[in-house]
Amino acid sequence: GAANKGNYRHFMLKEIHEQPAVIAQTLEGRLTDRGVLVKSFGVEAEALFSQARQIHIIACGTSYHAGMVARYWLERYAGIPTQVEVASEYRYRRVVVPEGTLFVTLSQSGETADTLAALRFAKGSGYLGSLAICNVPGSSLVRESDLTLMTHAGPEIGVASTKAFTTQLTALMLFTLALGRQRGIDDGQQADIVAALRGLPALVTRVLALDPEIERLSVDFAEKHHALFLGRGAHFPIALEGALKLKEISYIHAEAYPAGELKHGPLALVDSEMPVISVAPNDELLDKLKSNLQEVRARGGELYVFGDEQVAIEPEEGIKVLHLPHVDEALAPILYTLPLQLLSYHVAVLKGTDVDQPRNLAKSVTVE
Ligand code: G6P
Repeated sequence: GAANKGNYRHFMLKEIHEQPAVIAQTLEGRLTDRGVLVKSFGVEAEALFSQARQIHIIACGTSYHAGMVARYWLERYAGIPTQVEVASEYRYRRVVVPEGTLFVTLSQSGETADTLAALRFAKGSGYLGSLAICNVPGSSLVRESDLTLMTHAGPEIGVASTKAFTTQLTALMLFTLALGRQRGIDDGQQADIVAALRGLPALVTRVLALDPEIERLSVDFAEKHHALFLGRGAHFPIALEGALKLKEISYIHAEAYPAGELKHGPLALVDSEMPVISVAPNDELLDKLKSNLQEVRARGGELYVFGDEQVAIEPEEGIKVLHLPHVDEALAPILYTLPLQLLSYHVAVLKGTDVDQPRNLAKSVTVE
Protein backbone atom coordinates (compact mmCIF):
# COMPACT_ATOMS: atom_id res chain seq x y z
CA GLY A 1 0.00 0.00 0.00
CA ALA A 2 0.90 3.70 0.13
CA ALA A 3 2.29 3.23 3.63
CA ASN A 4 5.49 1.26 3.27
CA LYS A 5 8.53 1.40 5.50
CA GLY A 6 10.92 0.45 2.71
CA ASN A 7 14.27 -0.46 4.22
CA TYR A 8 13.66 1.53 7.38
CA ARG A 9 12.96 -0.06 10.73
CA HIS A 10 10.25 2.47 11.58
CA PHE A 11 8.05 4.94 9.72
CA MET A 12 9.48 7.69 11.89
CA LEU A 13 13.01 7.05 10.63
CA LYS A 14 11.80 6.84 7.04
CA GLU A 15 9.93 10.12 7.45
CA ILE A 16 12.98 11.81 9.00
CA HIS A 17 14.99 10.80 5.95
CA GLU A 18 12.32 12.03 3.54
CA GLN A 19 12.82 15.60 4.71
CA PRO A 20 15.21 16.78 1.97
CA ALA A 21 12.72 15.63 -0.68
CA VAL A 22 9.55 16.92 0.96
CA ILE A 23 11.07 20.30 1.79
CA ALA A 24 12.03 20.58 -1.89
CA GLN A 25 8.45 19.62 -2.85
CA THR A 26 7.04 22.27 -0.53
CA LEU A 27 9.18 24.91 -2.27
CA GLU A 28 8.49 23.61 -5.77
CA GLY A 29 6.86 26.16 -8.09
CA ARG A 30 6.47 28.74 -5.31
CA LEU A 31 9.69 30.73 -5.59
CA THR A 32 10.81 33.25 -8.17
CA ASP A 33 14.41 34.43 -8.48
CA ARG A 34 13.95 36.94 -5.72
CA GLY A 35 10.77 36.15 -3.85
CA VAL A 36 7.62 34.11 -3.38
CA LEU A 37 4.69 33.67 -5.76
CA VAL A 38 1.87 35.06 -3.64
CA LYS A 39 -0.76 33.32 -5.75
CA SER A 40 0.49 30.02 -4.29
CA PHE A 41 -1.74 30.91 -1.31
CA GLY A 42 -4.87 31.37 -3.42
CA VAL A 43 -6.44 33.94 -5.72
CA GLU A 44 -7.43 36.28 -2.88
CA ALA A 45 -4.02 36.18 -1.21
CA GLU A 46 -2.62 39.36 -2.73
CA ALA A 47 -5.64 41.38 -1.55
CA LEU A 48 -5.81 39.85 1.93
CA PHE A 49 -2.07 40.02 2.58
CA SER A 50 -1.92 43.67 1.57
CA GLN A 51 -4.61 44.51 4.15
CA ALA A 52 -3.17 42.41 6.98
CA ARG A 53 -2.04 44.47 10.00
CA GLN A 54 -1.49 41.59 12.39
CA ILE A 55 -1.54 37.83 12.53
CA HIS A 56 -3.14 35.36 14.93
CA ILE A 57 -1.76 31.82 14.60
CA ILE A 58 -3.62 28.89 16.16
CA ALA A 59 -2.52 25.23 16.30
CA CYS A 60 -1.92 22.23 18.60
CA GLY A 61 1.05 20.04 19.47
CA THR A 62 3.98 20.11 17.09
CA SER A 63 2.09 22.45 14.75
CA TYR A 64 1.91 24.95 17.62
CA HIS A 65 5.70 24.88 17.89
CA ALA A 66 5.92 25.70 14.17
CA GLY A 67 3.67 28.68 14.86
CA MET A 68 5.96 29.85 17.66
CA VAL A 69 8.93 29.86 15.27
CA ALA A 70 6.84 31.77 12.73
CA ARG A 71 6.18 34.53 15.24
CA TYR A 72 9.92 35.29 15.41
CA TRP A 73 10.13 35.27 11.62
CA LEU A 74 7.00 37.34 10.91
CA GLU A 75 7.97 40.06 13.37
CA ARG A 76 11.62 40.11 12.35
CA TYR A 77 11.40 39.85 8.56
CA ALA A 78 7.90 41.13 7.79
CA GLY A 79 7.51 43.54 10.73
CA ILE A 80 3.97 42.32 11.38
CA PRO A 81 2.68 41.88 14.96
CA THR A 82 1.96 38.19 15.56
CA GLN A 83 0.31 36.19 18.33
CA VAL A 84 0.45 32.41 18.62
CA GLU A 85 -1.78 30.30 20.82
CA VAL A 86 -2.84 26.69 21.31
CA ALA A 87 -6.32 26.12 19.94
CA SER A 88 -7.73 24.62 23.15
CA GLU A 89 -6.96 27.86 25.04
CA TYR A 90 -7.91 30.23 22.26
CA ARG A 91 -11.35 28.78 21.64
CA TYR A 92 -12.47 29.14 25.26
CA ARG A 93 -11.35 32.63 26.07
CA ARG A 94 -12.64 36.08 25.25
CA VAL A 95 -10.48 37.04 22.27
CA VAL A 96 -10.08 40.66 21.22
CA VAL A 97 -9.53 40.88 17.46
CA PRO A 98 -7.85 44.08 16.25
CA GLU A 99 -8.95 45.37 12.85
CA GLY A 100 -7.08 43.88 9.93
CA THR A 101 -6.10 40.62 11.64
CA LEU A 102 -5.44 37.57 9.50
CA PHE A 103 -6.30 34.24 11.16
CA VAL A 104 -3.85 31.41 10.45
CA THR A 105 -4.21 27.74 11.39
CA LEU A 106 -1.42 25.18 11.19
CA SER A 107 -2.23 21.49 11.07
CA GLN A 108 -0.76 18.34 9.60
CA SER A 109 -4.10 16.52 9.45
CA GLY A 110 -6.53 19.40 9.00
CA GLU A 111 -8.90 17.54 11.32
CA THR A 112 -7.73 18.42 14.84
CA ALA A 113 -10.95 19.15 16.73
CA ASP A 114 -9.74 22.17 18.70
CA THR A 115 -8.04 23.80 15.70
CA LEU A 116 -11.14 23.33 13.58
CA ALA A 117 -13.37 24.72 16.34
CA ALA A 118 -11.05 27.73 16.61
CA LEU A 119 -11.40 28.41 12.88
CA ARG A 120 -15.20 28.17 13.12
CA PHE A 121 -15.20 30.55 16.07
CA ALA A 122 -12.90 32.95 14.21
CA LYS A 123 -15.28 33.18 11.29
CA GLY A 124 -17.77 35.13 13.35
CA SER A 125 -15.18 37.25 15.12
CA GLY A 126 -14.32 39.97 12.62
CA TYR A 127 -11.09 38.66 11.11
CA LEU A 128 -9.89 39.80 7.70
CA GLY A 129 -9.85 36.19 6.53
CA SER A 130 -8.28 32.82 7.21
CA LEU A 131 -5.28 30.92 5.95
CA ALA A 132 -4.69 27.21 6.59
CA ILE A 133 -1.20 25.71 6.27
CA CYS A 134 -1.97 22.03 6.09
CA ASN A 135 -0.72 18.69 4.81
CA VAL A 136 -3.98 16.98 3.85
CA PRO A 137 -5.78 18.21 0.73
CA GLY A 138 -9.55 18.21 1.10
CA SER A 139 -9.40 18.15 4.91
CA SER A 140 -12.00 20.12 6.89
CA LEU A 141 -9.51 22.90 7.69
CA VAL A 142 -8.58 23.31 4.03
CA ARG A 143 -12.20 23.30 2.87
CA GLU A 144 -13.27 25.90 5.41
CA SER A 145 -10.40 28.40 5.04
CA ASP A 146 -10.24 31.35 2.61
CA LEU A 147 -6.62 30.72 1.69
CA THR A 148 -4.50 27.58 1.85
CA LEU A 149 -0.88 26.65 1.46
CA MET A 150 -0.31 22.92 1.33
CA THR A 151 2.79 21.39 2.86
CA HIS A 152 3.81 18.60 0.54
CA ALA A 153 5.10 16.23 3.20
CA GLY A 154 3.09 13.26 1.89
CA PRO A 155 1.40 10.86 4.31
CA GLU A 156 2.94 10.92 7.79
CA ILE A 157 2.39 7.63 9.62
CA GLY A 158 4.58 8.00 12.72
CA VAL A 159 2.51 9.57 15.48
CA ALA A 160 5.44 11.79 16.45
CA SER A 161 5.49 14.45 13.77
CA THR A 162 8.77 15.03 11.91
CA LYS A 163 8.55 15.88 8.21
CA ALA A 164 5.18 17.59 8.72
CA PHE A 165 6.92 20.03 11.10
CA THR A 166 9.87 20.94 8.88
CA THR A 167 7.61 21.39 5.85
CA GLN A 168 5.33 23.60 7.97
CA LEU A 169 8.35 25.72 8.83
CA THR A 170 9.30 25.86 5.16
CA ALA A 171 5.76 26.97 4.28
CA LEU A 172 5.82 29.52 7.10
CA MET A 173 9.01 31.05 5.73
CA LEU A 174 7.24 31.38 2.35
CA PHE A 175 4.38 33.10 4.18
CA THR A 176 6.85 35.41 5.94
CA LEU A 177 8.41 36.39 2.60
CA ALA A 178 4.99 36.91 0.98
CA LEU A 179 3.96 39.29 3.77
CA GLY A 180 7.42 40.81 3.89
CA ARG A 181 7.18 41.84 0.28
CA GLN A 182 3.98 43.79 1.00
CA ARG A 183 5.62 45.38 4.02
CA GLY A 184 8.89 46.51 2.55
CA ILE A 185 11.33 43.71 3.38
CA ASP A 186 14.77 44.64 2.08
CA ASP A 187 15.33 43.20 -1.44
CA GLY A 188 18.75 41.86 -0.57
CA GLN A 189 17.50 40.13 2.55
CA GLN A 190 14.64 38.59 0.59
CA ALA A 191 17.01 37.33 -2.11
CA ASP A 192 19.34 35.88 0.55
CA ILE A 193 16.53 33.93 2.20
CA VAL A 194 15.28 32.67 -1.19
CA ALA A 195 18.78 31.45 -2.03
CA ALA A 196 19.07 29.81 1.39
CA LEU A 197 15.70 28.07 0.90
CA ARG A 198 16.90 26.66 -2.42
CA GLY A 199 19.99 25.28 -0.69
CA LEU A 200 18.08 23.89 2.29
CA PRO A 201 17.36 20.34 1.05
CA ALA A 202 21.09 19.74 0.47
CA LEU A 203 21.94 21.02 3.96
CA VAL A 204 19.27 18.79 5.49
CA THR A 205 20.89 15.83 3.71
CA ARG A 206 24.25 16.77 5.26
CA VAL A 207 22.75 16.90 8.74
CA LEU A 208 21.10 13.49 8.26
CA ALA A 209 24.57 12.12 7.50
CA LEU A 210 25.50 12.93 11.13
CA ASP A 211 23.15 10.15 12.23
CA PRO A 212 25.87 7.74 13.45
CA GLU A 213 27.30 10.44 15.74
CA ILE A 214 23.85 11.26 17.10
CA GLU A 215 23.17 7.58 17.66
CA ARG A 216 26.36 7.43 19.78
CA LEU A 217 25.13 10.34 21.91
CA SER A 218 21.77 8.64 22.43
CA VAL A 219 23.40 5.96 24.60
CA ASP A 220 23.91 8.56 27.36
CA PHE A 221 20.15 9.21 27.52
CA ALA A 222 18.65 5.75 27.56
CA GLU A 223 18.96 5.34 31.34
CA LYS A 224 17.95 8.89 32.22
CA HIS A 225 14.54 9.92 33.53
CA HIS A 226 14.75 13.64 32.81
CA ALA A 227 16.27 15.96 30.22
CA LEU A 228 16.36 19.71 29.80
CA PHE A 229 16.41 21.43 26.40
CA LEU A 230 17.56 25.03 26.04
CA GLY A 231 17.23 27.43 23.13
CA ARG A 232 16.98 31.15 22.56
CA GLY A 233 14.90 33.24 20.17
CA ALA A 234 13.51 31.16 17.31
CA HIS A 235 15.38 28.18 18.78
CA PHE A 236 13.34 28.21 21.97
CA PRO A 237 10.40 26.59 20.12
CA ILE A 238 12.89 24.14 18.58
CA ALA A 239 13.94 23.21 22.12
CA LEU A 240 10.24 22.74 22.97
CA GLU A 241 9.83 20.49 19.95
CA GLY A 242 12.96 18.50 20.91
CA ALA A 243 11.57 17.97 24.40
CA LEU A 244 8.18 16.96 22.99
CA LYS A 245 9.78 14.36 20.68
CA LEU A 246 11.73 12.84 23.56
CA LYS A 247 8.62 12.67 25.77
CA GLU A 248 6.39 11.26 23.06
CA ILE A 249 8.50 8.33 21.96
CA SER A 250 11.02 7.57 24.72
CA TYR A 251 8.77 8.44 27.71
CA ILE A 252 11.64 10.39 29.26
CA HIS A 253 10.40 13.47 31.04
CA ALA A 254 11.76 16.44 29.15
CA GLU A 255 11.31 20.15 29.52
CA ALA A 256 12.39 23.09 27.42
CA TYR A 257 13.36 26.52 28.63
CA PRO A 258 14.50 29.69 26.95
CA ALA A 259 18.20 29.62 27.85
CA GLY A 260 17.97 32.87 29.80
CA GLU A 261 15.51 31.28 32.23
CA LEU A 262 17.89 28.53 33.31
CA LYS A 263 18.86 30.41 36.45
CA HIS A 264 15.24 31.10 37.34
CA GLY A 265 14.52 27.59 38.48
CA PRO A 266 15.55 24.61 36.33
CA LEU A 267 19.23 24.96 37.26
CA ALA A 268 18.23 23.60 40.67
CA LEU A 269 17.39 20.28 38.99
CA VAL A 270 20.64 19.82 37.09
CA ASP A 271 22.85 16.96 38.25
CA SER A 272 24.43 13.90 36.67
CA GLU A 273 20.96 12.44 36.09
CA MET A 274 19.67 15.49 34.21
CA PRO A 275 21.39 16.05 30.85
CA VAL A 276 21.10 19.56 29.37
CA ILE A 277 20.79 19.92 25.60
CA SER A 278 21.51 23.29 24.07
CA VAL A 279 20.37 24.09 20.52
CA ALA A 280 22.24 26.50 18.25
CA PRO A 281 24.00 28.65 20.81
CA ASN A 282 26.36 31.43 19.77
CA ASP A 283 29.70 32.00 21.54
CA GLU A 284 28.31 34.42 24.05
CA LEU A 285 25.40 32.23 25.04
CA LEU A 286 27.67 29.23 25.31
CA ASP A 287 29.93 31.10 27.73
CA LYS A 288 26.95 31.87 29.90
CA LEU A 289 25.78 28.27 29.79
CA LYS A 290 29.24 27.04 30.69
CA SER A 291 29.46 29.29 33.68
CA ASN A 292 26.01 28.15 34.77
CA LEU A 293 27.06 24.56 34.46
CA GLN A 294 30.28 25.15 36.39
CA GLU A 295 27.98 25.61 39.32
CA VAL A 296 26.66 22.09 38.89
CA ARG A 297 29.77 20.44 37.46
CA ALA A 298 30.70 19.31 40.93
CA ARG A 299 27.55 17.21 40.81
CA GLY A 300 28.26 15.96 37.32
CA GLY A 301 25.93 18.00 35.11
CA GLU A 302 26.43 17.09 31.44
CA LEU A 303 25.93 19.51 28.56
CA TYR A 304 25.18 18.48 24.97
CA VAL A 305 25.62 21.22 22.40
CA PHE A 306 24.36 21.30 18.82
CA GLY A 307 26.10 24.26 17.24
CA ASP A 308 27.31 25.87 14.02
CA GLU A 309 30.65 24.65 12.68
CA GLN A 310 31.64 28.31 12.18
CA VAL A 311 31.21 28.95 15.89
CA ALA A 312 33.55 25.99 16.48
CA ILE A 313 32.60 25.18 20.02
CA GLU A 314 35.29 23.10 21.75
CA PRO A 315 34.24 19.98 23.59
CA GLU A 316 35.60 19.75 27.12
CA GLU A 317 35.06 17.75 30.29
CA GLY A 318 31.29 17.41 30.71
CA ILE A 319 30.49 19.06 27.36
CA LYS A 320 29.80 17.06 24.20
CA VAL A 321 29.55 19.02 20.97
CA LEU A 322 28.06 18.18 17.60
CA HIS A 323 28.72 20.68 14.82
CA LEU A 324 26.17 21.29 12.10
CA PRO A 325 26.97 22.82 8.70
CA HIS A 326 26.67 26.58 8.58
CA VAL A 327 23.20 27.77 7.55
CA ASP A 328 21.63 31.17 6.94
CA GLU A 329 20.41 32.37 10.34
CA ALA A 330 16.83 32.65 9.06
CA LEU A 331 16.61 28.92 8.36
CA ALA A 332 18.62 27.60 11.30
CA PRO A 333 15.49 26.53 13.26
CA ILE A 334 14.64 24.09 10.46
CA LEU A 335 18.12 22.56 10.38
CA TYR A 336 18.49 22.25 14.17
CA THR A 337 15.23 20.30 14.38
CA LEU A 338 16.86 17.30 12.70
CA PRO A 339 19.46 16.23 15.28
CA LEU A 340 16.79 16.42 17.98
CA GLN A 341 14.48 14.17 15.96
CA LEU A 342 17.27 11.64 15.47
CA LEU A 343 18.33 11.79 19.11
CA SER A 344 14.81 11.01 20.32
CA TYR A 345 14.47 8.28 17.75
CA HIS A 346 17.63 6.47 18.84
CA VAL A 347 16.84 6.85 22.54
CA ALA A 348 13.40 5.32 21.94
CA VAL A 349 14.90 2.44 19.97
CA LEU A 350 17.35 1.77 22.82
CA LYS A 351 14.48 1.80 25.29
CA GLY A 352 12.46 -0.53 23.10
CA THR A 353 9.32 1.57 22.98
CA ASP A 354 6.74 1.45 20.20
CA VAL A 355 8.30 4.28 18.21
CA ASP A 356 5.58 4.73 15.58
CA GLN A 357 2.64 4.21 17.96
CA PRO A 358 3.55 5.64 21.37
CA ARG A 359 1.24 4.65 24.20
CA ASN A 360 -1.81 6.85 24.84
CA LEU A 361 -1.25 9.11 21.82
CA ALA A 362 -3.14 9.48 18.54
CA LYS A 363 -1.96 10.76 15.19
CA SER A 364 -4.92 13.06 14.93
CA VAL A 365 -7.04 14.25 17.85
CA THR A 366 -10.43 14.60 16.21
CA VAL A 367 -12.45 14.65 19.42
CA GLU A 368 -12.01 17.08 22.27
C1 G6P B 1 -1.53 15.03 17.83
C2 G6P B 1 -0.33 14.41 17.15
C3 G6P B 1 0.78 15.45 17.04
C4 G6P B 1 0.28 16.69 16.33
C5 G6P B 1 -0.98 17.25 16.98
C6 G6P B 1 -1.63 18.32 16.12
O1 G6P B 1 -1.19 15.33 19.16
O2 G6P B 1 0.13 13.29 17.88
O3 G6P B 1 1.88 14.91 16.31
O4 G6P B 1 1.28 17.67 16.31
O5 G6P B 1 -1.94 16.23 17.16
O6 G6P B 1 -2.07 17.72 14.93
P1 G6P B 1 -2.30 18.46 13.59
O7 G6P B 1 -2.76 17.39 12.62
O8 G6P B 1 -3.36 19.50 13.82
O9 G6P B 1 -1.01 19.09 13.17
